[in-house]
Amino acid sequence: MSLPQENRFQAIISHAKEYGFVFQSSEIYDGLSAVYDYGPYGSELKKNIRDYWWKSMTQMHENIVGIDAAIFMHPTTWKASGHVDNFSDPMIDNKDSKKRYRVDHLIEAYVEKLKAAGKTDEAGSLLATMDALLAKDDFATLKQIIETNKISCSISGTCNWTDIRQFNLMFSTQLGSVAGEAETIYLRPETAQGIFVNFLNVQKTARLKIPFGIAQVGKAFRNEIVARQFIFRMREFEQMEMQFFIRPGSQKEWYEYWKEERLKWHLSLGTPAEKYRFHNHTKLAHYADAALDIEYDFPIGFKEVEGIHSRTDFDLSNHQKYSGKKLTYFDTEINQHYVPYVIETSIGLDRMFLLILSQSYDEEKWIKDDGKEDSRVVMHIPEKIAPIKLAVLPLLKKDGLPEIAREIINVCRPYFRCFYEEKDAIGKRYRRQDAIGTPFCVTVDHQTKEDGTVTLRYRDSMKQERIHKSDIKDKLLNLLLF
Ligand code: GAP
Repeated sequence: MSLPQENRFQAIISHAKEYGFVFQSSEIYDGLSAVYDYGPYGSELKKNIRDYWWKSMTQMHENIVGIDAAIFMHPTTWKASGHVDNFSDPMIDNKDSKKRYRVDHLIEAYVEKLKAAGKTDEAGSLLATMDALLAKDDFATLKQIIETNKISCSISGTCNWTDIRQFNLMFSTQLGSVAGEAETIYLRPETAQGIFVNFLNVQKTARLKIPFGIAQVGKAFRNEIVARQFIFRMREFEQMEMQFFIRPGSQKEWYEYWKEERLKWHLSLGTPAEKYRFHNHTKLAHYADAALDIEYDFPIGFKEVEGIHSRTDFDLSNHQKYSGKKLTYFDTEINQHYVPYVIETSIGLDRMFLLILSQSYDEEKWIKDDGKEDSRVVMHIPEKIAPIKLAVLPLLKKDGLPEIAREIINVCRPYFRCFYEEKDAIGKRYRRQDAIGTPFCVTVDHQTKEDGTVTLRYRDSMKQERIHKSDIKDKLLNLLLF
């Protein structure tokens, strides 16, 4: 059944809370804006997405290794990376409501209204003008555009705007406990720099030859000004990043390679291709010579889920300059020392999680054989990343059925996450498993005692078949294969 997109987004948020996927952080204190906690099923799903990415990057690529760098880094890191000077967004405040907006978001929301009113040409040209002005940091003309189009604040309804200013997005804190001796350090706004500063340590210890990659998963922090839309834009979030070190001059070829490779990864989770699109950047980040977003059609529209960036030798060269340490590589094939170029793939784990929720959530209704209507809320989470893989359900709480169910769980649980439940009618138990996305349910009944077979029920088709209880583990392992 298709819900209007806005209702669908709200339904997903409520479902995520009700079924233990995502909670507002510190909810008993009314929450902390744009910070979220993952519950029992959410933390499993998040871990499975993380593992799926990690395995596809490291285990499946001989020339990619992983690291786990600290969140705190020497403060000069962020000077060298450009984040102290450049990691800011142009913002504008409404003087009446005191609400602060990111300039591009404010104009984009207006562009959407134009499109909805059928003024697609006007919308397209406004967007192009905005991109060009942002690329030039021409804030005065951008403000004029906001004023001449009478773009108003959604709270006060007025066009009483301040000038546009840049706000740095990094959180800072103090290192050291003695007053006056403390040093300002930052919570990393991206995991990438932990990779760059370790480039030679990793290359030497893992004896890697160019081209090679270093992958990392970890927390990142940004003081996002406009932080709403659930876990889409958070202040504390997790990134899965990979920096691929290459010979200078080969960046175009590798950029194309990773663009296609990453799209393939997304499609390997069964999401239809039409739900994705590439968006090439016109305004490039301070470190890039080419960049694009892989966008997904969220219930809030097509939005970025992953970035592919050709980062040139910007980061390594700057770390070399600021640290005074050589960060060059000797390429034995061409007998040359050089600072490698880098292609980066950077995906938000929380955003990927939201993508999976958005893609999986469904409210289904159908007419049964007896003519009555039936319905369910089901999460069609890809089997290999589902929080629980198998629920084992004894039909009754007696007659030795729970004991057989426990035996099955004991065999299967070293291999994948299982769940046992004996309470309520079987139909109700199936619905609860559908709601958390469990792909397989096994029911143990009286026939199991006679011939050892159980009912295996498939979440998506709701089809059932009888299989022998000793075949369950291998059958599922096959279906769950990477
Ligand atoms: N190292 C490059 C980098 O950080 P980015 O485009 O700023 O690039 C990469 O971020 C990815 O991190 C984005 O595609 C998005 O999935 C995720 N991300 C960025 N900011 C986020 C936020 N505030 N909340 C959740 N995810 C975020």
